[in-house]
Amino acid sequence: MMAERTVVSWRLPIPDALDDVTAAALPNPALSSWLPLVWRARLEPGETVLILGATGVAGRLAVQIARHLGAGRVVAVGRNPDLLKTLPDLGAAATISLNKPDEELAAALKAEANRKHFDIVLDFLWGHPTEVLLDAVTGHDVKADSRRIRLVEIGEMAGPRISLAAAALRSSRLEIYGSGGGGISYQAIFDTIPQVWALAVSGKLRIDTEGVPLASVENAWLREDVHGRRLVIIPQQPNQTLQATAAALSS
Ligand SMILES: NC(=O)c1ccc[n+]([C@@H]2O[C@H](COP(=O)([O-])OP(=O)(O)OC[C@H]3O[C@@H](n4cnc5c(N)ncnc54)[C@H](OP(=O)(O)O)[C@@H]3O)[C@@H](O)[C@H]2O)c1
Repeated sequence: MMAERTVVSWRLPIPDALDDVTAAALPNPALSSWLPLVWRARLEPGETVLILGATGVAGRLAVQIARHLGAGRVVAVGRNPDLLKTLPDLGAAATISLNKPDEELAAALKAEANRKHFDIVLDFLWGHPTEVLLDAVTGHDVKADSRRIRLVEIGEMAGPRISLAAAALRSSRLEIYGSGGGGISYQAIFDTIPQVWALAVSGKLRIDTEGVPLASVENAWLREDVHGRRLVIIPQQPNQTLQATAAALSS
């Protein structure tokens, strides 16, 4: 993805009105929620979507994409307090901070679930936050909840494993899926990317970006000040390469 030039076997026309940095930044994080909502969880109009890890680039897009695809209510859960405050503007009906003790977090999640059942969870975190969520929204008694919860595992920012209580499965209709590299057709991907770009052109999908020259990739890779913003590596322009070659030849 960082090569100056590459060969591809397919072409998707980028809209003229879309700048290259935004066009490059959008597909991966946007599809990380679009594909699971459509192809894994099969979102129905009006359903409630909980986004775990909503302050990252993919999570911020997930808030907007869930609303665009017909979610009735989006609940955003995240760690970064400044970015959490921006999520209602992107379409979140409620936000929950992860920066609290487990019991308080579980109580906040339960309160939201009681207000409106979580039909779908898009999970960019996994690890401990997912354990707290599943404890909070599944029961521990013989009176099983008949409503489905479709959890789609997408990222593992908070850990690669979880511990899952057996009672969570007995007491709920929890369904756990994953969405990543495989299993969704290329055609679905190629059909979706132009829709994502078109939404960005019309201002309905917002992403924060910062272009970084390829020569600075080492520093960019190590930066820790990038929250909710996607760095886009910009290759040297072909004409710059030609000029540099010409300069080198003439000297
Ligand atoms: N399966 C797929 O198709 C697919 C596609 C794209 C991305 N992903 C995955 O999705 C995840 C998110 O991607 P992204 O592009 O949104 O990344 P990102 O922009 O770097 O955001 C990461 C988010 O995770 C939060 N975070 C990090 N560690 C955490 C922890 N221990 N507990 C709670 N929150 C934590 C960060 O919070 P702070 O801002 O507070 O640091 C930030 O909000 C990654 O794991 C990525 O690999 C999967």
